[in-house]
Amino acid sequence: MANLLFLWISLLALTSFGISTPVRLTDPSRRPLVIWHGLGDSYASAGMLEFMQLIKDIHPGIFIHSVWLNEDLEQDQKAGFFGDVTEQLEVVSEQLAEIPELQYGFDAIGFSQGGQFLRAYIERYNAPPVNNLVTFGSQHMGVSDLPLCSRWDLFCQLARRYAARGGVYTEWAQHNLVQAQYYRDPAQLDLYLNSSRFLALVNNEVPEHINSTYADNLATLSNLVLVLFSADKTVVPKESAWFGSYASSNGTGDEKTIVPMRLQPLYTEDWIGLRTLDETGRVTLETCEGEHMQLKEECWKPLVERYTGEVVKDESDYRLVSDGTVFQIQN
Ligand SMILES: *[C@@H]1O[C@H](CO)[C@@H](O)[C@H](O)[C@H]1NC(C)=O
Ligand SMILES: *[C@@H]1O[C@H](CO)[C@@H](O)[C@H](O)[C@H]1NC(C)=O
Ligand SMILES: *[C@@H]1O[C@H](CO)[C@@H](O)[C@H](O)[C@H]1NC(C)=O
Repeated sequence: MANLLFLWISLLALTSFGISTPVRLTDPSRRPLVIWHGLGDSYASAGMLEFMQLIKDIHPGIFIHSVWLNEDLEQDQKAGFFGDVTEQLEVVSEQLAEIPELQYGFDAIGFSQGGQFLRAYIERYNAPPVNNLVTFGSQHMGVSDLPLCSRWDLFCQLARRYAARGGVYTEWAQHNLVQAQYYRDPAQLDLYLNSSRFLALVNNEVPEHINSTYADNLATLSNLVLVLFSADKTVVPKESAWFGSYASSNGTGDEKTIVPMRLQPLYTEDWIGLRTLDETGRVTLETCEGEHMQLKEECWKPLVERYTGEVVKDESDYRLVSDGTVFQIQN
């Protein structure tokens, strides 16, 4: 708050007197971080707050924003199950664009489904731009089964029941059930390609809807770090975290064969810029031991140290845009 107030006063001073003086947003020397929580969680749960504090202990002074769809924690959790992902992304892109600390870009960490949503943000918006993206146990090639719900998780049970009753590929489910929008059924690939309102589109899997901006944007990342959990039983198949998927069973064949990232048409034909990233050494495949989102310190800490909180040395061309006027920040 103190920082914001300081910024506001500084801007006022600049506008009133038209002179260019150094303006500091927060500690601008560390690249800020955006985190998108996973399914069943909310933006400010005890677990999320603890994780953010642990990162601040590693990178003192770092600005961290936790993505939210509703300020109310319970409603935010519900938005992980119910909603239109395309609309949610629009809301989040506006949210990120309005945060002054993020205006020069940021690193991003996505937990579980938050990972593919952040990737979609990069492909569709990327303004402000993402530098490094680290995804933990995400479903980049979708899921072939819906997550099991704990007994007391009512949102989850409700979503599962709707999905089972109505089918994941109905128009209604594709606009209202979040998990349906990244459900990729290897036995019904044609139906998936026809109906998917989110994953098939951001993966550029539908020939009539290929959007080259997605590949151009994703290929601007400095690093794409994909973390798979070795004993993940929540994400089916767990290799989805590495852009793997079951081979299309298509009536015959072995449904349990995994097509790894580098053999996916999405990769070989570079539909989303993934191959470009990989061939220039910017894709890192990591494994963490344990079940889905069992974030042990030996798993997350080296990645947080390496891919977030970088001290940005060259500030000379930082520009502060306000009310249509561009101020050069001087050193
Ligand atoms: C492609 O995606 C970009 C970014 O989301 C969007 O601005 C553009 O309208 C899309 N193009 C088409 C043809 O849909
Ligand atoms: C996909 O859509 C096309 C055109 O609407 C239709 O002809 C085809 O039968 C659909 N395929 C499936 C598997 O739903
Ligand atoms: C499924 O099999 C048919 C017949 O062999 C083939 O023409 C079609 O391309 C296959 N579809 C997919 C999605 O692999």
